[in-house]
Amino acid sequence: MPYLPEAKTEALKAIPGAARLLAAVRDRPGTYLVGGAVRDLMLGFAQFDFDIVVEGEAAELADHLVTEIGGRSRKHDRFHTATFYSEVDALSVDIATARTETYARPGALPEVIPSDLQHDLVRRDFTVNAMALSIWHERLGELEEFPDASADLAARVLRVTHDKSFIDDPTRLFRLLRYGARLGFAAEPHTEDLARAAVEAGAPSTVSGGRLGSELVVLLAERAALVAIDSMYALGLDRAIHPNFHADEYVAARVLSNLPDGVRQELLLLALCARSMDEDSAKPWLRDLGLNHKDAAIVLEGITNAELVADALSEDGSPAEHASVLRKYQPETLCLASGLPSTPPGLASLMREWLGDRSQGRLEISGADLREAGVSEGPAIGKALSSTLDATLNGEVNGRQEQLDHALRIVREERETV
Ligand code: CTP
Repeated sequence: MPYLPEAKTEALKAIPGAARLLAAVRDRPGTYLVGGAVRDLMLGFAQFDFDIVVEGEAAELADHLVTEIGGRSRKHDRFHTATFYSEVDALSVDIATARTETYARPGALPEVIPSDLQHDLVRRDFTVNAMALSIWHERLGELEEFPDASADLAARVLRVTHDKSFIDDPTRLFRLLRYGARLGFAAEPHTEDLARAAVEAGAPSTVSGGRLGSELVVLLAERAALVAIDSMYALGLDRAIHPNFHADEYVAARVLSNLPDGVRQELLLLALCARSMDEDSAKPWLRDLGLNHKDAAIVLEGITNAELVADALSEDGSPAEHASVLRKYQPETLCLASGLPSTPPGLASLMREWLGDRSQGRLEISGADLREAGVSEGPAIGKALSSTLDATLNGEVNGRQEQLDHALRIVREERETV
């Protein structure tokens, strides 16, 4: 088996928390770093979540980590998985027993049968995610992969590991677009054909609303969400989610070009794409997607009110009159309203200025600061910034350090509820 270049193994050791994790598993053969962690390490990213597969019981390894490192674990017996979390370095580890998976019906959650690493690699979504790195001392850095995985990674290609992948698990259609948007990888032609065929066969409707909702939210929180919106439309995945869900690239480009701080991008984009729904159909749809009450209310306000904001404003109104209208709306609604083609440019600028003033000088941190502190890409960043802005506006938090502490605490709370 090939070994990872020395420099990459050193880069792994330098990731916050990695040294303690490697020390804890040094005498445990059959422990591997897998999936996105290996992919991102090979791509040269310095931060990622630790995903571990073990040829043995995940719960048992989680207990071992608690004994060795401290922290706490949570176990999910049905899926033979566990999570481990340690406050020090915010070390978060997802552990899974190596497995094969069978699907009772398309879109269902898989039945899990413990197995070995080779089977575990085959059951994965894309070849670039089907690589495993030994992390116990004796074989530290040894790489095992699904055939051609590292060649696909070098060629920046997304290739399914088997033809039924999107039918078994249609959430992988969202994952395909997510890696396309985030990494700039392209689906190879056969994978693209399979994705298109799965959408045409209505595969997304076989997945529960909650699973679909989580994938959609994660996709729309990507920094390159515009690419995701564009490819959702090209694949017809938007209409497959709901007949009135339209990935509108034109409006998305307008709102994303200058996104004010404290606006939750994924909620804004959900409202944007769903804005031709009426309130009666949007409400149960949002509930079905599994959004919490507060987030669903933000999206619903965007869907039902964005078109109305401009009507309530007059360009020659006084600042006080403008403020009395604008303060009634969530920032996501105003941001969406400012990008609608029906909103006169003068009013769009007014909304933008209001949103800018709301956060100007008040948020001294940005998404980049959170990424630098080890938070990986995803909705947690927007959520933490939005909460920090609210806390700052309420006078609960002052200055950059307190803002950073607050934001990281929100991220931690998010992780712990997973
Ligand atoms: N996986 C899969 N099919 C899914 C979900 C996950 O095959 N529907 C596998 C992939 O091998 C993936 C790994 O489980 O790499 C971990 O999943 P997840 O943490 O969701 O993805 P990451 O690859 O870590 O990607 P990201 O960086 O977006 O979190």
